[in-house]
Amino acid sequence: MLNIVILAAGTGKRMHSDLPKVLHKLAGRPLLQHVLDTARALKPAKLCVVYGHGGRALPEQFKGADVVSVKQQPQLGTGHALKQALPHLGNDGITLVLYGDVPLIAAGTLKRMLKPNQLTLMTVELDDPAGYGRIVRDDDGDISRIVEDRDATGYERNIREVNTGIMAIPGARLQNWLSRLGNKNAQKEYYLTDIVALAIQDGAKVSAIQPQHAWETLGVNSKAQLAQLERLYQRERANQLLERGVTLADPSRIDVRGELACGRDVEIDIGCVFEGNVTLGNRVSVGAHCVLKDVKIAAGTELLPYCLIDGAEIGRDCRIGPYSRIRPGTVLENEAHIGNFVEVKNSHIGKNSKANHLSYVGDATVGKHVNIGAGTITCNYDGANKHRTVIEDGVFIGSDTQLVAPVTIRKGATIAAGTTVTRDAPAGELTISRVKQVSISGWKRPKKKVRSKE
Ligand code: UD1
Ligand code: CA
Repeated sequence: MLNIVILAAGTGKRMHSDLPKVLHKLAGRPLLQHVLDTARALKPAKLCVVYGHGGRALPEQFKGADVVSVKQQPQLGTGHALKQALPHLGNDGITLVLYGDVPLIAAGTLKRMLKPNQLTLMTVELDDPAGYGRIVRDDDGDISRIVEDRDATGYERNIREVNTGIMAIPGARLQNWLSRLGNKNAQKEYYLTDIVALAIQDGAKVSAIQPQHAWETLGVNSKAQLAQLERLYQRERANQLLERGVTLADPSRIDVRGELACGRDVEIDIGCVFEGNVTLGNRVSVGAHCVLKDVKIAAGTELLPYCLIDGAEIGRDCRIGPYSRIRPGTVLENEAHIGNFVEVKNSHIGKNSKANHLSYVGDATVGKHVNIGAGTITCNYDGANKHRTVIEDGVFIGSDTQLVAPVTIRKGATIAAGTTVTRDAPAGELTISRVKQVSISGWKRPKKKVRSKE
């Protein structure tokens, strides 16, 4: 049986923020969410979060059938924090302790720690171990205890093997060891790390493992560290994309804040952001500085630079951008073209239809082979309710047209430029609502009045 306890009650003073530290986001998700997701991958029987700051905000955000949140108030150290979780844990199997502010720890690394009936520490060797608890080993190289930085002697301070804080503890011993912790130390805290010496006293086996990458154990204490971890995380995501054959113009200039699935021969230019669930089909190319959220794009579609696409499904061989905005509820069929400064919302655009310049297409159903001229606006909102515009197959809408919804433009109709359409337009005919052009001969432009200075 596996119990996992995530310690997250620390103050996070150096973040200089009102938000509890573990709610700050990495790749669009709270730090604690990353740790919870990794914990869940290990399928624990019990999952417990120890929190302290931010009132109910934290337990409310992370409530779930499988998580218990326990408040630690006041915060008297890591040993005291783990003690708060004890009533919620089974007393056999393994209790794995994670930190809510160490978000990059990999499930694979944690799995290697899960050895029964022994205390397993995760340690790393650092060139600069300042601030960390040091792993003190005896002459045989066996671990004898952990000494905290502030309690360490000059000799101990030179030890470069440090405690990452992540440890796996035999559940049967946990209660006993925690009850024996004291706080006679430099910080007057109940140190969880003191259970190492207790385990040795009791003849229990203590060993250490190392993470695959040292950065997995980096913690977030400041905005600078948060930014550093964000870059490490993004670089790792970029490397995974490269390994799967995606072409990235620059792997250090892409941000993936969710799931990004790519087919073969996908190309992504610099500065793109992917959020939620994004799927790119074979040969999709994404131009510079596009932001894609919850989008599915089929094979061969080309996004030119600076597009913002959210909640849409895009067919094959479409061309979008530059500077297009596609909003939720939009479906583009194959070979549709959406051009610069065109906004499309909650609309269905049929095969090979085009809106290439400066238009708003909202709450519209557009058929096949439709041409929507520059400056066309679907007037979908009457100030109280939204209405639909229906544009049937083969329609040509001239530039600067307003379609006042609800309205239908029937098959093959042509709407003259500058028309305000307020009633349904019949199939195959030209509909026009312009006043007749007149020229007034002899008309003079008004002249600016000249006032004499007084
Ligand atoms: C701790 C370890 C140290 C290790 C270091 C790694 C102890 C005594 N020391 O030191 O050996 O090298 O982490 O970063 O364990 N927390 C609570 N309640 C508390 C105190 C802390 O929940 O009362 C949580 C924090 O939110 C954080 C984690 O425990 O997630 C570690 O706390 P922190 O104050 O960062 O520990 P350090 O003193 O750095
Ligand atoms: Ca710390």
